[in-house]
Amino acid sequence: MCGIFAYLNYLTPKSRHEVLDLLLNGLKRLEYRGYDSTGVAIDSPQANDIVMVKRCGKVKVLEDAIAEHFSGKEYDEPVMTHVGIAHTRWATHGVPCETNSHPQRSDDENSFVVVHNGIVTNYKDVKTFLEKRGYVFESDTDTEVIAKLVHHLWKKHQGYSFRELVEQVIQQLEGAFAIAIKSKHFPGECVASRRGSPLLVGIKTKTRLSTDHIPILYGKDEKSSQTCEKDTEASKTKVLPRTESTSEFMPLEEKEVEYFFASDASAVIEHTNRVIYLEDDDVAAVRDGTLSIHRLKKCLDDPHAREITTLKMEIQQIMKGNYDYFMLKEIFEQPESVVNTMRGRVRFDSKSVVLGGIKEFIPEIKRCRRLMLIGCGTSYHSAVATRQLLEELTELPVMVELASDFLDRNTPIFRDDVCFFISQSGETADSLMALRYCKQRGALIVGITNTVGSSICRESHCGVHINAGPEIGVASTKAYTSQFISLVMFALVMSEDRLSLQQRRLEIIQALYELPERIRQVLKLDSQVQELAKDLFQHKSLLIMGRGYNFATCLEGALKVKELTYMHSEGIMAGELKHGPLALIDDRMPVMMIVLRDPVYIKCINALQQVTSRKGCPIIICEEGDEETKSYSSRSLEIPRTVDCLQGILTVIPMQLLSYHIAVLRGCDVDCPRNLAKSVTVE
Ligand code: AGP
Repeated sequence: MCGIFAYLNYLTPKSRHEVLDLLLNGLKRLEYRGYDSTGVAIDSPQANDIVMVKRCGKVKVLEDAIAEHFSGKEYDEPVMTHVGIAHTRWATHGVPCETNSHPQRSDDENSFVVVHNGIVTNYKDVKTFLEKRGYVFESDTDTEVIAKLVHHLWKKHQGYSFRELVEQVIQQLEGAFAIAIKSKHFPGECVASRRGSPLLVGIKTKTRLSTDHIPILYGKDEKSSQTCEKDTEASKTKVLPRTESTSEFMPLEEKEVEYFFASDASAVIEHTNRVIYLEDDDVAAVRDGTLSIHRLKKCLDDPHAREITTLKMEIQQIMKGNYDYFMLKEIFEQPESVVNTMRGRVRFDSKSVVLGGIKEFIPEIKRCRRLMLIGCGTSYHSAVATRQLLEELTELPVMVELASDFLDRNTPIFRDDVCFFISQSGETADSLMALRYCKQRGALIVGITNTVGSSICRESHCGVHINAGPEIGVASTKAYTSQFISLVMFALVMSEDRLSLQQRRLEIIQALYELPERIRQVLKLDSQVQELAKDLFQHKSLLIMGRGYNFATCLEGALKVKELTYMHSEGIMAGELKHGPLALIDDRMPVMMIVLRDPVYIKCINALQQVTSRKGCPIIICEEGDEETKSYSSRSLEIPRTVDCLQGILTVIPMQLLSYHIAVLRGCDVDCPRNLAKSVTVE
């Protein structure tokens, strides 16, 4: 959801054309996050000026506009030091249009230009304050107040550094943001900050970096600090200490260096694998090629430095390869991604499971009052999918919760609760808010995420990294199956010493061993699924029914169909059929039913009969060779047999493929469905 990409080259000559290519490429890497407009700002070849190009629509549209706008030879001349900022916007305040696109500017002269992710909740107060001082707003965005507020403070406090100005500004802002700012008054400098929205700094040097951390510089104490006026109505009581950068530590100083500010690692990995994940209220500033990280106040347990992390991600992982879409690539990666989730954890020889990230907390978890599994969308469905097994193997009450609803209800949380936060991105605002809510109430927080360094990762007490690899398609596929397996592994760890459960554990571990091959078998159904898609793509609706271990597949399948094809779809608990949904059934309503040979088989057959006796003609997902079940319909998909609690992994794959093929047939944008974002960083 929105993407920031900024690039600063210090003593590393680059032409403006090269800089623009870099910025466009960075934006392309962020496209998967979801957006509706784009923009860039670079230095003009005419001295001391900033030029911006913004467009509504895809990065390609911006690329064409840039080719037209910056065609002169002067754009080929190398520049020793330069800062460019770029953005993909997902509209929150104001419709998608050029004026509302980022960068937003402080004034007609583009003195300060800013790119922003998140929502400034008090922007109306700040806007009123600035309007009273003569500022005229041109956009409907909340972001514009940031650019204009920096400008206002710059006029008032001429001696302030760029970084100090931004520090003053962020103290006036409420809500969530990640920002990168460039100014014609501070050429060659870039200042970035975050609160509640992810931002990282990539560092590229010619030689090996001389350090593996960047010290944090803290502000002076308030007694000795200067203060600036109370700058907005919104901050009537705030005393704003000015910080200074003297410190016993030295910030990162390299002779020739390039810096990248980005919303996520996929935008920088082709340039460098050395990154710093900024924390809330960090202000990262580059001046004279030197990166420093500042915070206004030091709390007792604040660290002294931010670590420079080496990314393990490979560029190939975020490339489409031979696939037409990332989603298809990610569906077909599942035989490998599930192995990566289990690697080093499930020991098939000794039939044991170790989860290093939560090992030390297992005794505490075993003593808990209940387990709560919390997430949104697909991540929530992985909780629904594994709840039954968790109840069986942990013998604890297990609650599954949608993060947004959980907060709306002010759900009671106790110190002896264990709360699992499941999130592919690790940045979903609703999940993060719910996490903080539970943490404040003393619960143990376990993160189940796919993104190392994400907010949920960092704010959890312990966790499991699902290791599915980067997931670029907005529709989650391989992350779901890896979340599923992570929770199954947790259930196995919890039941390790329960004698009565040993047989069950062995059966599951054996099925996990066979799972990659079973997934490969299911993927071979692709052409059959494609044929079914041809029957379905012109319909308005698709009902998906099942129960027990396969109910989650119905919910997840329906979510995939909705988000990718814009068709109506509903996951229906088969047991609920006669309580209402049966009224929808006739000979024209498309229905899929999951009917596997598990403990609820007979109940599923009852539901199947209720559908067929109303002239319904369902597509049945059944077990390989189950002629009896197949005989209820002319259309079926046969999946290989596995242990009941893992069936959901095999039944969801045909649904992923089906939604993909329907989307292609309907001409939908598979990787970036309309109105959606990969990482939903606003509440
Ligand atoms: C899944 O296809 C969706 N794009 C969406 O439901 C997603 O799972 C949800 O927004 C949660 O995201 P997270 O896993 O990154 O927290």
